[in-house]
Amino acid sequence: MVIHAVVILLICLAGSPAFGGEQRQYCLDCHSGHYVERGSCSSCHRGNPLSARRNIAHHGLVAGRFAHFTMKEDAVVREGRRLMEQFFCRRCHVSAGKGNHLAANLDSLRNARSPEEIAASIERPALGMPDFSVTGQQSAILVNAILAGADSVINSKKDRPGVVHFDDPGGHNRHVFSKKCASCHRLLSERYGAMGKGNIGPNLSGLLTVWYPKTFKNEEGWNDKRLREWLRNPRKVRHWANMQPVILSEDEFKQLVEALMINVQDQI
Ligand code: HEC
Ligand code: HEC
Ligand code: HEC
Ligand code: HEC
Repeated sequence: MVIHAVVILLICLAGSPAFGGEQRQYCLDCHSGHYVERGSCSSCHRGNPLSARRNIAHHGLVAGRFAHFTMKEDAVVREGRRLMEQFFCRRCHVSAGKGNHLAANLDSLRNARSPEEIAASIERPALGMPDFSVTGQQSAILVNAILAGADSVINSKKDRPGVVHFDDPGGHNRHVFSKKCASCHRLLSERYGAMGKGNIGPNLSGLLTVWYPKTFKNEEGWNDKRLREWLRNPRKVRHWANMQPVILSEDEFKQLVEALMINVQDQI
């Protein structure tokens, strides 16, 4: 019994810092430290602190320009949140638990993609995502806001599937949007998926939700009544509007609103 106790005591002592048990961070062989009071290098930059070889130590590294999300109340993160609002990313994506579920849930990217990959998807957007022509600096700022948003909801909500499943993927050719709007507009529809190929008019994804820009008139958002008014005569709403009136039957209008509606939605 006594021998057991001594062995256990020795094991505990060997693991304590006084006996050299604290693992050495090789990062400091090559770098001078900063923010040491806030944690280990890897708590913010990931990487592998147990290797003295740069390539291994840097595996999965979060570079400095993407590391601002680890800081509380960081100015870069604030700027990123502002850009996300300016570009209305949430009319298609959920970030920090808020937004429409039309495209990937940005909160789920934290563990699935490297910051470089997330930045690349903003700089060179996939089909169905508008090209915001961001600079490399702006995309890094947006990545910080996305990662900070993901951290803010960790464990706070059960994740919904990132991309919605479309009821009727083939149905869109017969749809009123395809016949009467698609030549000028694009739309990600919860029901039908990606519709339209036009870039002359704005991308209408999320139009009837709070996440779409408030472009109707006088800072007002859109609803079905206002959409009807717009389609009857855009120039009555905006005298300089560049869109011709579109005549729709009652049935067609219903079909259009149904394609624009979003059921799965996290409100503010
Ligand atoms: C063998 C030396 C060596 C080790 C060990 C090492 N680094 Fe580096 N690190 C470098 C050099 C050289 C650069 C600059 C060139 C580059 O980016 O590879 C650098 C660059 C960086 C950058 C800046 C990258 C950027 O683009 O912002 C960060 C952050 C960084 N290291 C963090 C770490 C962390 C964290 C560790 C430990 C897990 C670590 N490094 C271990 C040598 C090292
Ligand atoms: C609390 C989070 C945090 C910790 C801990 C931290 N860093 Fe950083 N690091 C950052 C941020 C944020 C930046 C971006 C520029 C800045 O704020 O200085 C950065 C930038 C860097 C850079 C890029 C150099 C530059 O000026 O652009 C290197 C290299 C680096 N860190 C290495 C380290 C090493 C080595 C450690 C461990 C001693 C460490 N960091 C600990 C957050 C952290
Ligand atoms: C009109 C809808 C729409 C808007 C607005 C939009 N996106 Fe996207 N985004 C998409 C689609 C579609 C994809 C590709 C398919 C998917 O991921 O669901 C995508 C993909 C992405 C990806 C890659 C996701 C992955 O799985 O790797 C990122 C990151 C992203 N968007 C960020 C943004 C940011 C940041 C903004 C705002 C600046 C934004 N998006 C605005 C539709 C949109
Ligand atoms: C021939 C091209 C064309 C067709 C077809 C078309 N639009 Fe447009 N639409 C535009 C243009 C261009 C604008 C930008 C108007 C402006 O100058 O403000 C626009 C703007 C809009 C807007 C305002 C969005 C905003 O944020 O300002 C809505 C809503 C809209 N269209 C809906 C529709 C719908 C629904 C259809 C089909 C029933 C349709 N449009 C058919 C060209 C078209």
